[in-house]
Amino acid sequence: MTKKLFIKTYGCQMNVYDSARMADVLAPLGYATADGPDDADLVILNTCHIREKASEKVFSDLGRLKRMKTAKQQQGAGDMLLAVAGCVAQAEGEEIAARAPFVDLVLGPQTYHRLPEMIARAVGRPSAGAGGPVLDTDFPAEAKFDFLPEASAPQGATAFLSVQEGCDKFCTFCVVPYTRGAEYSRAVAAVVTEARQLVAKGARELTLLGQNVNAYHGVGADGREWSFGRLIRELAEIDGLARIRYTTSHPNDVDDDLIAAHRDVPQLMPFLHLPVQSGADAVLDAMNRKYTADEYRRVVDRLRAARPDLVLSSDFIVGFPGESDADFEATLALVRDIGFVQAFSFKYSRRPGTPAAVLPKQLSDDVKAARLDALQALLNAQTKAFDQSCVGRELDVLFERPGRHDGQLVGRSPYMQAMFVEAPAHLLGSIQRVRVTAAPSNSLAAELVTDSCAAVAGVPSSLAEATA
Ligand code: SAH
Ligand code: SF4
Ligand code: F3S
Repeated sequence: MTKKLFIKTYGCQMNVYDSARMADVLAPLGYATADGPDDADLVILNTCHIREKASEKVFSDLGRLKRMKTAKQQQGAGDMLLAVAGCVAQAEGEEIAARAPFVDLVLGPQTYHRLPEMIARAVGRPSAGAGGPVLDTDFPAEAKFDFLPEASAPQGATAFLSVQEGCDKFCTFCVVPYTRGAEYSRAVAAVVTEARQLVAKGARELTLLGQNVNAYHGVGADGREWSFGRLIRELAEIDGLARIRYTTSHPNDVDDDLIAAHRDVPQLMPFLHLPVQSGADAVLDAMNRKYTADEYRRVVDRLRAARPDLVLSSDFIVGFPGESDADFEATLALVRDIGFVQAFSFKYSRRPGTPAAVLPKQLSDDVKAARLDALQALLNAQTKAFDQSCVGRELDVLFERPGRHDGQLVGRSPYMQAMFVEAPAHLLGSIQRVRVTAAPSNSLAAELVTDSCAAVAGVPSSLAEATA
């Protein structure tokens, strides 16, 4: 009998990848996708622990799911198994069991290949929910990747592929080394096999994922550890793979091989997310980032020398303990110097168990909020200016999904900008040359310039003439 599965994903792209893989693990058990939690037999919350807000959201969602579960039982409509997976499960497994004993399963990010066995244990208990959740937050010796079934087809032309996981860097604000465990790189052959499968199933673009993806050092066919740059070159050999991206990278792991890949591999897109966190050396030092603002600038200079049209995106934390006005000004100066076109910026969130949580000189929320506003205003202005500078230019777009109205497709430029284009549906999944006509907020409007199928699809010939 088919059962229904609903997964809610919080947090980063690695969680998005993990959620898809959990669905792959459960498919052989007969689990098909549910439209929402209310018609699901199994609900998984794949959680994020990175900031306090993200964590707390899980407990409020659990409250709502508990009511659904109880209602379903009372109506005699069967049971709804509730699972908490991901980084909150890893960090607060015991607390979930205590605060939310109605949860059936608690599993960390490294144990989801064991889901079938855990479900069997939860279902097989004498009375449902007896004794609290079945809990598995090990860091097993075996790597889950070796036990996962083949990845199912990607949703569209783009897919995520985890190549590296975990972190040994221990930035003083961050929970990831505790929730994801030590750094681990998948073998080159395993990555290449999965990449080929994804491309065969329709992916034209792959985003390689890792908490520090460029710290990758997986074993190659020659028995040696390959660098991330070498892995990218190998993947670029796959026929039909048109675009390669990666996230998240660390400035200290940008080595010569990777820089050379940016120079030599045309499939590697000229958009790089390279988190800097702060532009002040004192703050970077207190964060244990192990680079100075000028060292970061030099890394960017070298990347740009290799790939002159490279644009950068970043992550910032404002209001780290002890951050002075001058420190914050240094961050704004760095934002201007590098000319970031995109960024995620956050107020520092005190995470239990991390060294920065107990530092003196914690800042007030007011100071954090004001700094966040100022930083985001600057970043938004830079995003806008970059988008405007693209008007009139010709760029390639990879069409990912239909637009809101008929005859429109939505895709991404090489620089990750969302592009809205009047184009026939059969171009979904293809890469086309377009001319940017306008830059409304957070997107580009563009028109096709070279679609060999355009005439067939009824695109006016004046368009072809105008672009000849
Ligand atoms: N490995 C990546 C970051 C992964 S976490 C790196 O080294 O850059 C994603 C982002 O969340 C971080 O870059 C940081 O900006 C933010 N973040 C992490 N911990 C945080 C905290 N305690 N408070 C606020 N933001 C945080
Ligand atoms: Fe967290 Fe730092 Fe590791 Fe990034 S490098 S995941 S911020 S500890
Ligand atoms: Fe969150 Fe875990 Fe990703 S804490 S950001 S889901 S690695």
